[in-house]
Amino acid sequence: MEELFLINGGKILSGKVNVEASKNAYLPILAGTILCDGEVIFHNVPNFTDIHNMCEILKRLNVKLFSSGEFLKLDTTNVKNEKITHELTNKLRASIFLLGAMLGKFRQAVISYPGGCNIGQRPIDIHLNAFKSLGVKVIEKHGYIYCNASNMKAGKVTFSSVSVGATESLMMCTCLLKGRTTLCNVAKEPEIVELARFLNAMGADVQGAGTDVIEINGVPKLQGGTFKVFPDRIIAGTYLILGALCGQKLQINGFKKEHNEYLLNILKETACEIVEKNDNIIISANGRNKACRFLETAPFPNFPTDLQPQIMTLESVANGTCVLKENVFENRFNHVMELNKMGADILVKDRIAVISGVEKLYGADVFATDLRAGAGLVLAGLIADGYTTVHNVHFIDRGYEKFEEKLSSIGADIKRIKIE
Ligand code: UD1
Repeated sequence: MEELFLINGGKILSGKVNVEASKNAYLPILAGTILCDGEVIFHNVPNFTDIHNMCEILKRLNVKLFSSGEFLKLDTTNVKNEKITHELTNKLRASIFLLGAMLGKFRQAVISYPGGCNIGQRPIDIHLNAFKSLGVKVIEKHGYIYCNASNMKAGKVTFSSVSVGATESLMMCTCLLKGRTTLCNVAKEPEIVELARFLNAMGADVQGAGTDVIEINGVPKLQGGTFKVFPDRIIAGTYLILGALCGQKLQINGFKKEHNEYLLNILKETACEIVEKNDNIIISANGRNKACRFLETAPFPNFPTDLQPQIMTLESVANGTCVLKENVFENRFNHVMELNKMGADILVKDRIAVISGVEKLYGADVFATDLRAGAGLVLAGLIADGYTTVHNVHFIDRGYEKFEEKLSSIGADIKRIKIE
């Protein structure tokens, strides 16, 4: 059965939207519960398929999960060191976090290669090389990664390049390791700070998250506890861009402005009107936006690659030309062909897209190729003349909860259609 969104574009959107908890913070944290002895209770777990898939793997590892509308409880008392098969990992890039967590807990793990969004090759060499530098034996054969960390020793790890996932893997792998581990050239994303906050709340000693160097003083055990994760900065950013495109006093609630500072500064240079309150923003479109002349994606605190497709939709109808460079992933322009089907004028060469703003997009039949590309196409459909059909909605469900219901509640004409 295929699910698609049917959008009748051109509506003005107003009202209030709440931002769910961060998917990319929750994924490593859920994997990290393996390190804890006892029960961990989360209070705001979002309903995304990526989260379900992570929970499914944890269940296979004999973690007991209990979910009510209010909270998710995980009991890791009887967690088992099982081989994690391709059938489980291929749905989720974040399954790689289980490797770090299992090595931290059991000093041994076998896992198949991770799947995930098709936005580039997405190798895991930085994770594996970092494990190796601490003495972990890594053998890759028949599609599996066999790791033995019985001789793992605390020490210094310098990452060859900045990786969010590898930083998180190493934090989990070393927080129960005797001695001090120093991680250099780490990523500084807010999700890393959140993982450190979680591990520390459970008894770990992780210092420096959010800077270039993280120090981990190994502790003998982590306990259980309760935790609440911060709001998703990419969802907040998606709604902010939507507001700049077609909002009328669109209020985005419950997110941290400091996580979206770069985007907010870009939006302030366009024509939209922004009113900032404590933890919300009210945004209204105000005619045609001025094109941002040059923009490039880069690790936090710079412009996030996960908002690149959405900002491309904004630029595709802006007044002027925008040169947009994708520095993080080598294959993250799959949405360009789809936007061009809708009347956009975008040329791509290698990692650079030249977007010549057009007055209007028009409805078309388009295909999401990954999660954020899908979000960018939904935004395009919402401002286009006529009907747009966005296929492959399953990608969007990975990181947006009932997106069509939220958008309908602020005035969008969007329906989920199921086709046998
Ligand atoms: C995380 C986010 C993802 C976001 C990305 C960049 C999660 C679950 N996902 O992904 O949404 O787009 O950060 O902000 O948090 N690389 C290697 N070898 C490795 C690891 C990474 O070459 O072992 C490369 C990647 O292919 C990419 C770059 O390094 O080109 C950055 O990737 P990384 O920061 O690791 O992203 P993820 O953790 O996979």
